[in-house]
Amino acid sequence: MVHMERVQLISKEPEKWEYFKKNLSGSYEFVTSKPGEKADFSEIILIATDEIENIEKIRGMDKKRLPIVFFGKSGDFTTEIKVRSLGVVDFFSIPFDKELLLFRFNNVKINDQNVRWMQMIRREMIKVQDDMAETIAETIESRDENTGGHIKRTAAFINLLGDEFVESGVMSRDQLNLIVRAAPLHDIGKIGVRDSILLKPGPLTDNERSEMKKHTEKGAELIEKMQKKFKSHAYLQYAHDIALNHHEYFNGKGYPNGKKGDDIPFCARLMSVVDVYDALVSNRVYRKGMPQEKAFEIIFSGTGTQFDPDVLEAFEKCKDYLI
Ligand SMILES: [Fe+2]
Repeated sequence: MVHMERVQLISKEPEKWEYFKKNLSGSYEFVTSKPGEKADFSEIILIATDEIENIEKIRGMDKKRLPIVFFGKSGDFTTEIKVRSLGVVDFFSIPFDKELLLFRFNNVKINDQNVRWMQMIRREMIKVQDDMAETIAETIESRDENTGGHIKRTAAFINLLGDEFVESGVMSRDQLNLIVRAAPLHDIGKIGVRDSILLKPGPLTDNERSEMKKHTEKGAELIEKMQKKFKSHAYLQYAHDIALNHHEYFNGKGYPNGKKGDDIPFCARLMSVVDVYDALVSNRVYRKGMPQEKAFEIIFSGTGTQFDPDVLEAFEKCKDYLI
């Protein structure tokens, strides 16, 4: 027996779908259910309904986000606009032409497959970008034995801290996700810092310190080059802003440009706090990491000078979850 593709018909009056079953039974298998009734969507390719109020209920039940088509009255444009605004992908009027309906069902199916394909490619691309960024960042980190795990920890911390701003509506979850993905590249410019400086066990001379400080601008330049090649603006723009500005101070006394207050991109003001906090509590070859309480004291003493007071207010709320 040939396996036919299934369409789920949802209506308060399933008997009226007999008309569809009769006309289209050779092309699709139709399964009927009443709204709210438990339905098995596993082998369904699209859902058809004839009542606006069913659309939300279907969305609640259908975890596969199958395409929904609507059957309404011919010329009822108000209903068509309303249901399309709710995400319905096609509007059919009764009575229908069998051939035309089959063509359009087929188009709905192909469009849905294309959308899912594109979403999968997009997810794959994001994964490749993240893996590449992480690999580059870890390669740089591996040069400096002092900073093991810093990249992963700071990305996790920035997620925790940024969550406070998502909760309060300052930024969206999508924006925070981009910042978290961009965070591992904050010190990418260290790739251009000589080993004799990067790995120096003792204190740096003035000249060495100024060369070390250039990792911010070098990082930004590298990311600008990536931006020209990949054109993935949102993610790389955050990476650029963080790399360039994560050592700026809120009072304008940081580097490389002495930017002040709101002129420092918000993502970099977040990074600045987590970067310093992690450096304070982490062990180094030449010293032990300090206890959390001491690190908190140092961080909070930088309110309004090194750090943005709003960011520290959020830091206060989530600091107990830090390691
Ligand atoms: Fe840095």
